[in-house]
Amino acid sequence: MTFARIGALALFALAGGCSAQPDTPAAAPQLTFHEVMKDQIDVHADEVWELTNPKLDDRAIIDPRLMSDQEWAELASRADAVQKAATEIAHMDPIVVAKPGVKISDEDIPYGHSAAHVQEAIDKRPQVLRDMAGVLAAHMGDLSKAARAHDPAKASPLIDQLDGVCEDCHLEFWYPDQKALVEKYRDHI
Ligand code: HEC
Repeated sequence: MTFARIGALALFALAGGCSAQPDTPAAAPQLTFHEVMKDQIDVHADEVWELTNPKLDDRAIIDPRLMSDQEWAELASRADAVQKAATEIAHMDPIVVAKPGVKISDEDIPYGHSAAHVQEAIDKRPQVLRDMAGVLAAHMGDLSKAARAHDPAKASPLIDQLDGVCEDCHLEFWYPDQKALVEKYRDHI
Protein backbone atom coordinates (compact mmCIF):
# COMPACT_ATOMS: atom_id res chain seq x y z
CA MET A 1 0.00 0.00 0.00
CA THR A 2 1.35 3.43 -0.91
CA PHE A 3 1.63 6.33 1.48
CA ALA A 4 -0.98 8.27 -0.51
CA ARG A 5 -3.56 5.52 -0.07
CA ILE A 6 -3.06 5.36 3.67
CA GLY A 7 -3.53 9.09 3.79
CA ALA A 8 -6.74 8.90 1.80
CA LEU A 9 -8.10 6.17 4.07
CA ALA A 10 -7.29 8.17 7.18
CA LEU A 11 -9.00 11.23 5.73
CA PHE A 12 -12.02 9.17 4.85
CA ALA A 13 -12.25 7.90 8.44
CA LEU A 14 -11.92 11.45 9.76
CA ALA A 15 -14.59 12.80 7.44
CA GLY A 16 -16.88 9.90 8.38
CA GLY A 17 -16.39 10.70 12.05
CA CYS A 18 -17.23 14.38 11.56
CA SER A 19 -20.27 13.90 9.38
CA ALA A 20 -21.74 11.41 11.88
CA GLN A 21 -21.73 14.00 14.64
CA PRO A 22 -24.89 16.01 13.92
CA ASP A 23 -26.96 12.80 13.90
CA THR A 24 -25.75 11.68 17.35
CA PRO A 25 -27.06 13.93 20.12
CA ALA A 26 -24.75 14.30 23.11
CA ALA A 27 -26.89 12.09 25.36
CA ALA A 28 -25.10 10.40 28.27
CA PRO A 29 -24.32 6.83 27.31
CA GLN A 30 -26.70 4.37 28.95
CA LEU A 31 -24.86 2.54 31.72
CA THR A 32 -25.27 -1.18 32.02
CA PHE A 33 -26.64 -2.81 35.15
CA HIS A 34 -23.17 -4.25 35.85
CA GLU A 35 -21.52 -0.82 35.62
CA VAL A 36 -23.96 0.72 38.10
CA MET A 37 -23.66 -2.28 40.46
CA LYS A 38 -19.85 -2.43 40.45
CA ASP A 39 -18.91 1.25 40.16
CA GLN A 40 -21.66 2.85 42.20
CA ILE A 41 -23.69 0.56 44.47
CA ASP A 42 -20.76 -1.54 45.66
CA VAL A 43 -18.33 1.40 45.91
CA HIS A 44 -20.70 3.67 47.83
CA ALA A 45 -22.00 0.90 50.11
CA ASP A 46 -18.37 0.11 51.00
CA GLU A 47 -17.90 3.80 51.82
CA VAL A 48 -20.85 3.57 54.22
CA TRP A 49 -19.40 0.50 55.96
CA GLU A 50 -15.89 2.01 56.05
CA LEU A 51 -17.23 5.01 57.90
CA THR A 52 -19.47 3.18 60.35
CA ASN A 53 -17.50 0.00 61.14
CA PRO A 54 -15.03 1.76 63.48
CA LYS A 55 -17.94 3.53 65.23
CA LEU A 56 -19.89 0.43 66.30
CA ASP A 57 -19.97 -0.85 69.86
CA ASP A 58 -20.07 -4.55 70.69
CA ARG A 59 -23.85 -4.67 70.02
CA ALA A 60 -23.36 -3.19 66.52
CA ILE A 61 -24.82 0.15 67.63
CA ILE A 62 -23.16 3.39 66.54
CA ASP A 63 -21.50 5.09 69.49
CA PRO A 64 -22.59 8.71 69.03
CA ARG A 65 -19.57 9.93 71.00
CA LEU A 66 -17.41 8.72 68.11
CA MET A 67 -19.40 10.58 65.46
CA SER A 68 -18.72 14.22 64.64
CA ASP A 69 -21.36 16.40 62.96
CA GLN A 70 -19.29 16.21 59.81
CA GLU A 71 -19.25 12.41 59.90
CA TRP A 72 -23.03 12.24 60.30
CA ALA A 73 -23.33 14.52 57.27
CA GLU A 74 -20.84 12.37 55.36
CA LEU A 75 -22.79 9.21 56.25
CA ALA A 76 -25.97 10.82 54.91
CA SER A 77 -24.30 11.74 51.64
CA ARG A 78 -22.79 8.26 51.19
CA ALA A 79 -26.22 6.73 51.83
CA ASP A 80 -27.68 9.17 49.29
CA ALA A 81 -25.14 7.99 46.70
CA VAL A 82 -26.24 4.35 47.11
CA GLN A 83 -29.87 5.44 47.00
CA LYS A 84 -29.34 7.32 43.75
CA ALA A 85 -27.69 4.31 42.09
CA ALA A 86 -30.38 1.92 43.36
CA THR A 87 -33.05 4.27 41.99
CA GLU A 88 -31.28 4.26 38.64
CA ILE A 89 -31.55 0.47 38.56
CA ALA A 90 -35.18 0.60 39.68
CA HIS A 91 -35.92 2.69 36.56
CA MET A 92 -33.87 0.74 34.03
CA ASP A 93 -35.89 -0.35 31.04
CA PRO A 94 -34.62 -2.41 29.33
CA ILE A 95 -32.22 -3.86 31.87
CA VAL A 96 -28.97 -4.70 30.08
CA VAL A 97 -26.67 -6.62 32.41
CA ALA A 98 -23.36 -6.04 30.58
CA LYS A 99 -21.96 -5.00 27.23
CA PRO A 100 -21.09 -7.88 24.90
CA GLY A 101 -17.83 -9.52 25.94
CA VAL A 102 -17.78 -7.97 29.44
CA LYS A 103 -17.32 -10.54 32.17
CA ILE A 104 -18.86 -10.20 35.61
CA SER A 105 -17.06 -10.89 38.85
CA ASP A 106 -17.01 -14.65 39.30
CA GLU A 107 -17.68 -15.64 35.71
CA ASP A 108 -14.48 -17.64 35.27
CA ILE A 109 -14.34 -19.46 38.58
CA PRO A 110 -15.84 -22.93 39.07
CA TYR A 111 -19.59 -22.65 39.73
CA GLY A 112 -19.40 -18.97 38.68
CA HIS A 113 -22.20 -17.25 36.78
CA SER A 114 -21.97 -15.44 33.47
CA ALA A 115 -23.51 -12.12 32.50
CA ALA A 116 -25.72 -14.05 30.04
CA HIS A 117 -26.94 -16.26 32.87
CA VAL A 118 -27.83 -13.22 35.00
CA GLN A 119 -29.49 -11.57 32.00
CA GLU A 120 -31.69 -14.63 31.54
CA ALA A 121 -32.72 -14.59 35.20
CA ILE A 122 -33.54 -10.87 35.06
CA ASP A 123 -35.45 -11.13 31.77
CA LYS A 124 -37.82 -13.63 33.40
CA ARG A 125 -38.76 -11.21 36.18
CA PRO A 126 -37.49 -7.68 35.46
CA GLN A 127 -40.09 -6.03 37.70
CA VAL A 128 -39.03 -8.13 40.70
CA LEU A 129 -35.47 -6.89 40.22
CA ARG A 130 -36.66 -3.28 39.91
CA ASP A 131 -38.75 -3.68 43.05
CA MET A 132 -35.78 -5.11 44.97
CA ALA A 133 -33.65 -2.17 43.80
CA GLY A 134 -36.47 0.03 45.10
CA VAL A 135 -36.23 -1.71 48.49
CA LEU A 136 -32.50 -0.87 48.62
CA ALA A 137 -33.22 2.73 47.61
CA ALA A 138 -35.83 3.09 50.37
CA HIS A 139 -33.47 1.49 52.92
CA MET A 140 -30.75 3.99 52.03
CA GLY A 141 -33.25 6.87 52.14
CA ASP A 142 -34.14 5.84 55.70
CA LEU A 143 -30.44 5.62 56.61
CA SER A 144 -29.76 9.05 55.17
CA LYS A 145 -32.67 10.49 57.17
CA ALA A 146 -31.45 8.83 60.40
CA ALA A 147 -27.93 10.15 59.77
CA ARG A 148 -29.19 13.68 59.19
CA ALA A 149 -31.09 13.40 62.49
CA HIS A 150 -27.90 12.07 64.21
CA ASP A 151 -30.00 9.13 65.39
CA PRO A 152 -27.90 6.04 66.24
CA ALA A 153 -30.97 4.02 67.33
CA LYS A 154 -32.49 4.34 63.85
CA ALA A 155 -29.28 4.27 61.80
CA SER A 156 -27.61 1.25 63.44
CA PRO A 157 -30.15 -1.48 62.57
CA LEU A 158 -30.33 -0.15 59.00
CA ILE A 159 -26.56 -0.54 58.67
CA ASP A 160 -26.72 -3.96 60.28
CA GLN A 161 -29.41 -5.13 57.83
CA LEU A 162 -27.83 -3.62 54.74
CA ASP A 163 -25.84 -6.63 53.56
CA GLY A 164 -29.02 -8.72 53.91
CA VAL A 165 -30.78 -6.38 51.46
CA CYS A 166 -27.91 -6.86 49.00
CA GLU A 167 -27.82 -10.59 49.52
CA ASP A 168 -31.58 -11.09 49.06
CA CYS A 169 -31.32 -9.76 45.51
CA HIS A 170 -28.09 -11.63 44.74
CA LEU A 171 -29.82 -14.86 45.73
CA GLU A 172 -32.69 -14.17 43.32
CA PHE A 173 -30.73 -12.99 40.29
CA TRP A 174 -26.98 -13.68 40.60
CA TYR A 175 -26.54 -17.11 42.18
CA PRO A 176 -30.07 -18.49 42.75
CA ASP A 177 -28.65 -22.02 42.82
CA GLN A 178 -27.20 -21.17 46.25
CA LYS A 179 -30.46 -19.91 47.70
CA ALA A 180 -31.47 -23.10 49.49
CA LEU A 181 -28.02 -23.54 50.96
CA VAL A 182 -27.77 -19.93 52.18
CA GLU A 183 -31.27 -20.01 53.67
CA LYS A 184 -30.43 -23.18 55.56
CA TYR A 185 -27.29 -21.51 56.90
CA ARG A 186 -29.24 -18.35 57.81
CA ASP A 187 -31.73 -20.41 59.84
CA HIS A 188 -28.87 -21.67 61.98
CA ILE A 189 -27.35 -18.34 62.97
C1 HEC B 1 -31.82 -5.35 42.86
C2 HEC B 1 -30.90 -6.42 43.01
C3 HEC B 1 -29.58 -6.18 43.67
C4 HEC B 1 -29.33 -5.47 44.82
C5 HEC B 1 -30.32 -4.78 45.73
C6 HEC B 1 -27.90 -5.53 45.02
N1 HEC B 1 -27.30 -6.25 44.01
FE1 HEC B 1 -25.30 -6.51 43.73
N2 HEC B 1 -25.67 -7.63 42.10
C7 HEC B 1 -26.92 -7.95 41.60
C8 HEC B 1 -26.75 -8.81 40.45
C9 HEC B 1 -27.90 -9.37 39.60
C10 HEC B 1 -25.38 -9.03 40.27
C11 HEC B 1 -24.68 -9.89 39.19
C12 HEC B 1 -24.33 -9.07 37.97
C13 HEC B 1 -23.02 -8.36 38.13
O1 HEC B 1 -22.04 -8.95 38.66
O2 HEC B 1 -22.93 -7.18 37.72
C14 HEC B 1 -24.71 -8.27 41.33
C15 HEC B 1 -23.35 -8.19 41.50
C16 HEC B 1 -22.71 -7.56 42.54
C17 HEC B 1 -21.28 -7.50 42.70
C18 HEC B 1 -20.25 -8.11 41.75
C19 HEC B 1 -19.95 -7.10 40.65
C20 HEC B 1 -19.02 -7.65 39.60
O3 HEC B 1 -17.86 -7.23 39.56
O4 HEC B 1 -19.46 -8.50 38.81
C21 HEC B 1 -21.03 -6.80 43.85
C22 HEC B 1 -19.66 -6.51 44.46
C23 HEC B 1 -22.31 -6.41 44.39
N3 HEC B 1 -23.31 -6.87 43.57
C24 HEC B 1 -22.48 -5.69 45.57
C25 HEC B 1 -23.72 -5.31 46.06
C26 HEC B 1 -23.89 -4.59 47.31
C27 HEC B 1 -22.78 -4.19 48.25
C28 HEC B 1 -25.22 -4.37 47.44
C29 HEC B 1 -25.97 -3.72 48.56
C30 HEC B 1 -25.51 -2.46 49.05
C31 HEC B 1 -25.88 -4.96 46.28
N4 HEC B 1 -24.93 -5.51 45.48
C32 HEC B 1 -27.25 -4.92 46.06
C33 HEC B 1 -28.13 -7.51 42.08
C34 HEC B 1 -28.31 -6.71 43.18
